Amino acid sequence: MKTVLSGIQPSGKLHFGNYFGAIRQHIELQESSDAFYFIANYHSLTSLSNGEELRQNTLDVALDYLALGLNPEKATFFAQSDVPQVTELAWILGTLTPVSLMEKGVSYKDKVANGLAPNIGLFTYPILQAADILIYGSDLVPVGADQKQNVEICRDLAGKFNHTFNGDFLNLPDPHILKEVAIVPGVDGRKMSKSYGNTISIFDEGKKLKKKVMSIKTDTTALEDPKDPENCNVFALIKLFGTNDQQQDIAEKYKAGGYGYGHAKKELLGMINEKFGEAREKRKELEKDLDYVHDVLAEGGKKARERAEKIMEPIREVTGIVRHFKQI
Ligand code: ADP
Ligand code: TRP
Repeated sequence: MKTVLSGIQPSGKLHFGNYFGAIRQHIELQESSDAFYFIANYHSLTSLSNGEELRQNTLDVALDYLALGLNPEKATFFAQSDVPQVTELAWILGTLTPVSLMEKGVSYKDKVANGLAPNIGLFTYPILQAADILIYGSDLVPVGADQKQNVEICRDLAGKFNHTFNGDFLNLPDPHILKEVAIVPGVDGRKMSKSYGNTISIFDEGKKLKKKVMSIKTDTTALEDPKDPENCNVFALIKLFGTNDQQQDIAEKYKAGGYGYGHAKKELLGMINEKFGEAREKRKELEKDLDYVHDVLAEGGKKARERAEKIMEPIREVTGIVRHFKQI
């Protein structure tokens, strides 16, 4: 059985982009693989320096995943920081990483271009991500299209390590990218992202959700005129939420005219409520039993550490890192 691994940063409320670009696949893959999913709290520190907030976000992500169908009997679900071997391996990989490789990082360059003052953690972010993947011997990494380069960097670093130390210590993983939903647009039409403030959260409901859906940017075509569904942010979301029949029906109404963007938004709202209704109820139940949520993460962390230690031991051996204590 293949080992599947993915991580998600607890840096804000999870949104539709995260759901269609990542979470949905994670939940599906737990059925057919040995799945490891973790909350990347160390990664979030590169952009969030508030302990209270990070703790709350970490719990929120755990609740979100469990409510959306992550089954801890099937997948190993844990927090990144519960596996110290990850940061240990990241350091070792860093000693083999050319600075020029990090300088090519698209997501690092983007953030700098957007005016963010970069810290070293952000610069070496892909190294920590590589360690996340390699420490469990992962075969497949299901992520959104924007993470492809990080998985490639991970493969490079694994190859470099194996070559340098002359053995098959680290398994080279493959990215698993869902093609149809390459990029989910936000309410302003740009890529939906926490950093653009244009998200609709998975667990938004009621008035808040309605307000966000109604604020999705559309063009100024008059209500009675025909509209192009393929050029519309509302329809892009309808394509993700609607059945094939619903999509076709709405596409025809767009083209016929006499159907406004307000109508489309109302239909979209109904589809969102339908899709996440059950998960919302489940999340409310889980919130009443936080001990259960912490137990799931503790148990997942234990399994993950055991797996990580198996990979880490020969690496310490071959690199000559001596430890004078035992730890799991
Ligand atoms: P954000 O851009 O909001 O900070 P993250 O970078 O934390 O989101 O993304 C977490 C996961 O969700 C990644 O696998 C990413 O590729 C996916 N993802 C995020 N936004 C989108 C989007 N708009 N469309 C498709 N996938 C997305
Ligand atoms: N960089 C990923 C993101 O922002 C999160 C992440 C951290 C990750 N480590 C990982 C994803 C390992 C897959 C595998 O979405």
